[in-house]
Amino acid sequence: MSADPATEAARRRTFAIISHPDAGKTTLTESLLLAGGAIHLAGAVAARGQARRTKSDWMKIERERGISVSSSVMMFEHDGMVFNLLDTPGHEDFSEDTYRTLTAADSAIMVLDAAKGIEPQTLKLFEVCRLRDIPITTFINKMDREAQDPFALLDEIHSKLAMDTAPMYWPAASGQRFAGMLDLITDEFVPFRRLEAGEQGFANEERQKRGGNDFLLGVTDDVRAELEETAELARDGLPKFDLQAFREGHLTPVYFGSALRRFGVLELLAGLGAYAPPPRMQKAVVKGAQTEVEPGRNEVSGFVFKIQANMDPKHRDRVGFFRISSGRFQRGMTLKTAAGKGFNVHAPLMFMAQEREIADEAFPGDVIGIPSHGGLRVGDSLSQSGEVVFQGIPNFAPEILKRVRVKDPLKQKHLRKALEALGEEGVTQVFKPVQGGDLVVGAVGALQFDVLDERMKAEYGLEVIFETSPYQAARWISADARADLEAFVDKSQSQMAEDVDGSPVYLGKSAWEIGYVQDKNPKVRFSAVKERAA
Ligand code: G4P
Repeated sequence: MSADPATEAARRRTFAIISHPDAGKTTLTESLLLAGGAIHLAGAVAARGQARRTKSDWMKIERERGISVSSSVMMFEHDGMVFNLLDTPGHEDFSEDTYRTLTAADSAIMVLDAAKGIEPQTLKLFEVCRLRDIPITTFINKMDREAQDPFALLDEIHSKLAMDTAPMYWPAASGQRFAGMLDLITDEFVPFRRLEAGEQGFANEERQKRGGNDFLLGVTDDVRAELEETAELARDGLPKFDLQAFREGHLTPVYFGSALRRFGVLELLAGLGAYAPPPRMQKAVVKGAQTEVEPGRNEVSGFVFKIQANMDPKHRDRVGFFRISSGRFQRGMTLKTAAGKGFNVHAPLMFMAQEREIADEAFPGDVIGIPSHGGLRVGDSLSQSGEVVFQGIPNFAPEILKRVRVKDPLKQKHLRKALEALGEEGVTQVFKPVQGGDLVVGAVGALQFDVLDERMKAEYGLEVIFETSPYQAARWISADARADLEAFVDKSQSQMAEDVDGSPVYLGKSAWEIGYVQDKNPKVRFSAVKERAA
């Protein structure tokens, strides 16, 4: 293994999977890990999929150390490439975790159920990817079941996501008749074989070359005719794959398959290896100057995109998930925040599939876990010099706001402390209204309140009550001229609040009201995203 960060970065692909629940994300993850040689994992991932379905189980698992941490990032090798798969939490709701995880990914796989196409959460997650300009590879799953017409599916992606679709393969029917797929680039046919019960391998047979004796051998005449006709239409009528358009987020290469039947997965992985972007240049301020940090840069730098805290309630430990942006990280290095706080990383965790392992070295695109007893925050930039500050780790405006009170009024101070700690960790967003006593907490999804409630009880011994708040939307505000901002804050006192960093936030009673106030105050910017500079 070369130790040169540029060479190592070039063979890394750090990606996340986005999908609507039940489209097959867990099953695809399992299949990818199988391809990466982590066969013993198959059961473990599936079991987690099951547990996830009941909220309480999920939280229990989340608390039992290990599982959630080790499954948050999985690293595997295939065909000379190193893949870092970042797990975006897969429950019905999403939390900011999902969003933040996407800030650490260089690309994403969008999994669609072939019978359902684009579903609401696919769309929402897609919008986040677009915000970050993350290239998307599409995997149309469950081709072993009756699927929608592939042209209709591609058309839906095109119209709903405003993105060109370039099929890389073309399916031969679906469901019971599913026979395989044609490689639209090499014109070879990849036959589908149903796996025997309990069989662990992949369902791909030898590729059949056009003109060879075995081409489409065993495929019924009607499926064969249908394939030839539709594949030709697809070739002539649909966009061709264009690397630049893909990397810029205007086009998605489309793969077909069945995660459950282990078909099409190796092709997807080969596509990721060949076309998905390696670790990107990352916008930053270095020594006060705006620049882009290249992965091949010698100095180790990166940012914390997630913090998992209190996995063991007795120890109050925290693990910061640090995505490396440049340099060759070696165990024992000291990394500093921009504020000058140093962390000697003598026991970094690396996530080789299911096992937590101590990492000796890591490269751009990799994610290591940095254990610490507090002090690390989501969005922190760390580097050897402490002079690199990455930009663009956003906080999203919560979609649900509630007032929070503690049952025992003597514990008011406690409540504030606990909420601030959980706020720093990104479990919730905490707003302190300028007038009035009760804190307002915000979440991107309703499940976040359950998590908050559970954790307040378990870790801080606090019984809290969430009440409907008069507010329905929060916006971070800013203005070019300080005076404009102050004038607005002054006249809007009753609806002003501060977030955990003390930044001003306007709480609106409805989205409509925010729009109205925005129109009336053109010099003030209202932002649904707060970009943390450091
Ligand atoms: P998710 O993580 O996106 O929520 O989806 P998950 O992988 O858990 O898959 C949801 C359901 O779809 C599961 O069935 C899974 O077995 C099934 N599935 C996934 N990929 C395929 C595929 O390629 N073909 C077919 N036919 N089914 C697929 P389940 O019955 O809900 O769960 P289980 O009891 O089978 O685990």
